[in-house]
Amino acid sequence: MKSISFISPFLLGLIFSFPGQSQTTIAVETATYAIVLQADKENMLSTVYCGNKLDAPADYNGIAETSRYPQGNAGIYNNAYTPAGTWNLSEPAIQVTHADGNHSLDLKYVSHLITKPDANTSLTAITLQDPVYKLTVQLFYKTWNKENVIEQWTEISNKEQGPVVLQKYASANLYFSNKDFYLTSFQGEYLKELQPMEEKLLQGTRTIDSKLGTRAMLLASPNFMVSFGGPAKENSGTVMLGQLAWSGNFKLDFEVDSYKNLRLITGINPYEAAYTLQPGKSFKTPSLVYTLSNTGTGEASRQLHNWARKYRLLDGQGERLTLLNNWEATYFDFDENKLSGLFKDAKKLGVDMFLLDDGWFGNRYPRNNDNAGLGDWQENVKKLPHGIGYLVKEAKAAGVKFGIWIEPEMVNPQSDLYEKHLDWVIRQPQRPEKYYRNQLVLDLSNPEVQNFVFGIVDDLFTKNPELAFVKWDCNAVIYNAYSAYLNKNKIPQTHLYTEYVKGLYSVLERIRAKYPKVPMMLCSGGGGRADYEILKYFTEFWPSDNTEPIERIFLQWDYSYFFPSIAIDCHVTDWGKQPIKFRVDVASMGKLGFDIVAAKLSENDLAFCQQAIKNYNSFKDIVWHGDQYRLLSPYENTAAAIEYVSEDKSSALLFSYLHSNRFVINATERPIQLKGLDAAKKYAVKEINLYPGTKSTLEDGKIYSGDFLMNVGLNPDVNYGRTSVIIQINEVVK
Ligand code: DGJ
Repeated sequence: MKSISFISPFLLGLIFSFPGQSQTTIAVETATYAIVLQADKENMLSTVYCGNKLDAPADYNGIAETSRYPQGNAGIYNNAYTPAGTWNLSEPAIQVTHADGNHSLDLKYVSHLITKPDANTSLTAITLQDPVYKLTVQLFYKTWNKENVIEQWTEISNKEQGPVVLQKYASANLYFSNKDFYLTSFQGEYLKELQPMEEKLLQGTRTIDSKLGTRAMLLASPNFMVSFGGPAKENSGTVMLGQLAWSGNFKLDFEVDSYKNLRLITGINPYEAAYTLQPGKSFKTPSLVYTLSNTGTGEASRQLHNWARKYRLLDGQGERLTLLNNWEATYFDFDENKLSGLFKDAKKLGVDMFLLDDGWFGNRYPRNNDNAGLGDWQENVKKLPHGIGYLVKEAKAAGVKFGIWIEPEMVNPQSDLYEKHLDWVIRQPQRPEKYYRNQLVLDLSNPEVQNFVFGIVDDLFTKNPELAFVKWDCNAVIYNAYSAYLNKNKIPQTHLYTEYVKGLYSVLERIRAKYPKVPMMLCSGGGGRADYEILKYFTEFWPSDNTEPIERIFLQWDYSYFFPSIAIDCHVTDWGKQPIKFRVDVASMGKLGFDIVAAKLSENDLAFCQQAIKNYNSFKDIVWHGDQYRLLSPYENTAAAIEYVSEDKSSALLFSYLHSNRFVINATERPIQLKGLDAAKKYAVKEINLYPGTKSTLEDGKIYSGDFLMNVGLNPDVNYGRTSVIIQINEVVK
């Protein structure tokens, strides 16, 4: 007898299977896709299909028998959660040492339960159990139907008499049997974050991992793209966009097996991470979040953007504040008077808020450079004799809100905090300290440190309830990983990397329980952190300290594969040689901010910025909440073009840039075909963000049909003299 279950409101419930009795098929479905798992007669659970959803769920039963792999490895390679130490000889998803010291593990399907929390989401929980040892594994698949997004995680429970050591505990173990896989991984460095690299996966294992501890995605990213059958394309082909949603060490293994199928095993990096699970306890892994699309990366990104805004990013469907930041305008050199002047500049520019950056704290060790003061979160009395409260009031009087920078997970050795609480610092006591930006990381596995970090934020808000924004920075990696707290409590040191991240999440959970709404920017000395677990607590993130606008065209393009524009902070600075218009136009494709000396802007530059901010306020809803279309890739063209379309298709924006001037006179010789409009609608086209004294080369207000704009296209006339062009496309309502 065969049994099939699929996610449907009509068939929900707990389904058990008994050895040798039946073959169970479980389909995890979204609107378009299905991942099908099947337990065989021995109750070994395998992934038998990952592809388009079938009309008749009963058809999933017949998938496995259509493959004719030679005996032996097939059931090993496609195991749904591959155990180590028994029959499997390929990369495992889980590896344990049992309470009695034995290393072997086998996992058999026991039951599964499908629930449907609401019309768009489903949760499938599959229970596996070792037939010999009392160790249970539960595989979870949460699906968002409309967005085609799946979140997968695992829970491991120790029901043995003594502690079990988890040597490896992956979040997900997927299997794809299409031929030819292309992986785009994202690698980088400080100022060069998230650089895409596409490669064809050949037989063997390609590993992308991080061991940095805190700003874990600085050199390699937990975001990835897999394209099936050929390199990834924007508007065609089957692709998967995925991310391990974990703000610490991660490992992504892409293994092409001997049948040329792809095994994908992702999770917390097992490096120095053996985790002792006490009897009666469970361990929940982080999630792998992914989406699949049959029509290329463009659609896949829009699915992820919609999902993130609606279900994951804090206040993803809400508003954001435009701002003036003082970091690059003053660095550490400011006082109350200078700041009061900057509040007025912020107002004059027309932004919503002033953001005070690093350097406002520390007295015995004043924070006048990055050598000292980190950890001592009291206002510096010389710079700010009347404290933060006074600044909040002054800003309000000037007509802007006030936000503040903190870096609460870190400490300078030159600080009161370091002198008072050396045991709170991650360091090897018997070795010389090794610094990253002259600082060390606090031990967030320690509940006292968690209280301290929570207290920094709580204290700021308690004393200054009108504080409007927090920029949460994190500039150091973990060197000399060692926790005095874990040692004192006889907890293995190999828990540190994991407990650090869990400690961080628990502090953020407390902050959000008390301050649910206040916008917070996640910053990590550039783009060292941005994932869909930590973004439950943040409204936005800082993708890189590199704000040179041509670099930003590429960087924002790459981040946009995974994150919606509302989450990406884009500041206008003095980096590079591009004119102010170019810089503002590029930053207007994300959440706009400024980090310039506004008082030094020429009259025309200031007038341009003021108008551009007004324009931004008029169209930001489309950039933040609309659909994004990457039209012209900067990697393949001398011009780049990105379009945003409102949900109701009544308005759109086309951003276009000349980013390379080798042998180019006209960068857009041909029109650019727009996307996402309504073919039947009429649209008026108007160039905006024109620099004072310049005129558009386009006919103002010219009317086109959506049909024309999507098939013939629109030429923004990007050239030497017009390196940056924004066009507003508004429906003409008769
Ligand atoms: C690194 C951040 O990326 C910058 O924006 C700035 O906040 C500095 N830290 C301050 O130290």
